[in-house]
Amino acid sequence: MTSAPVLSVRGLRIEFPVGGDRLVAARDVSFELAGGECLAIVGESGSGKSVTCLGLLGLVPGQGRVVAGEVIFEGDDLLKLPFEGLRQVRGEKIAMIFQDPSSALNPLFTIERQIRDVLDVHKDWPAKRKRDRILEVLGAVGFPDPARRMKSYPHELSGGLRQRVAIALALACAPRIVIADEATTNLDVSVQAQIIELLVGLKDDLEFSVIFVTHDLALAQHIADRVMVMYAGHPVEVGPVAEVMANPAHPYTVGLLGSAPTGESHRAHRLAAIPGSIPDLRTIGAAAPFAGRCPVRVEGICDRVKPAWTSCGADHLVACHRYERDGREGTTWNR
Ligand SMILES: Nc1ncnc2c1ncn2[C@@H]1O[C@H](COP(=O)(O)OP(=O)(O)OP(=O)(O)O)[C@@H](O)[C@H]1O
Ligand SMILES: [Mg+2]
Repeated sequence: MTSAPVLSVRGLRIEFPVGGDRLVAARDVSFELAGGECLAIVGESGSGKSVTCLGLLGLVPGQGRVVAGEVIFEGDDLLKLPFEGLRQVRGEKIAMIFQDPSSALNPLFTIERQIRDVLDVHKDWPAKRKRDRILEVLGAVGFPDPARRMKSYPHELSGGLRQRVAIALALACAPRIVIADEATTNLDVSVQAQIIELLVGLKDDLEFSVIFVTHDLALAQHIADRVMVMYAGHPVEVGPVAEVMANPAHPYTVGLLGSAPTGESHRAHRLAAIPGSIPDLRTIGAAAPFAGRCPVRVEGICDRVKPAWTSCGADHLVACHRYERDGREGTTWNR
């Protein structure tokens, strides 16, 4: 992608107080998102994908806080915007779609009412224009017979249709960025494929950018231009998705790809077959995040020093001491 970034994230750090400790759920997260681009964020459960996305919009749950970093969007640092300014950005210019469409839909209101509520918050339009927009956006997501069925309540719809409505809700105000956090994970494989196709088509037609969060590298390859692999709150590798899949440089990415069966359903590509588990995020300190599980760690370094980014291809970066020392040969295992 050559266009100027619509979003620049620099040095994002998100902490949760836990007991007397601080749990660092996202550390030094930096990336850019170009206009019309889809960036996938991939990593296993607990790697900090959701917290990162929520942090961009000042929505870190519970006692969590963004304690460092900046999120530049349309010339503003979103983390410094007053509440009202951030509220205008959320939902209008940057919208989110979650794993569970029920979390976005109110069971008590019709589909029509819920989309209108979003428009009421952000658009000073006459009623007719709002109604046209509701029909338009439901049509765009393939909601059947929108003029009649927009009177439905969420429980009257299938899971796939509910997720289409959640996408319509996200697109209602024509956002510049859509953040989809495991938006297809709960759906049947065939419905999942339809929703992915829908998102790809809408993204290209409407020219918004997408941050697509998933456990599934195969799915990321299908939808994304670039991928950022996260492990234990740290981005460890970032690059064009085809390049990262063909030439993974970080031992964690190598493991993820090695553990992905081929020819199976998308769900079977969930990538958790590397022995061990994510380290304690309260005590990980300055180590390389994957050190405790890494089959090619450099003794005496990886457990003490956080690696810097190294270039490992065109627009492809890795944060790994072994790669820095021995190149791709050094990190190729399980292949
Ligand atoms: N409300 C919270 N209170 C305390 N810690 C939290 C909270 N939410 C998240 N965390 C911590 O942040 C870490 C990252 O969580 P996050 O939800 O971002 O992971 P994820 O990569 O999205 O995982 P998943 O794939 O399961 O959705 C978790 O391991 C957890 O320790
Ligand atoms: Mg998550």
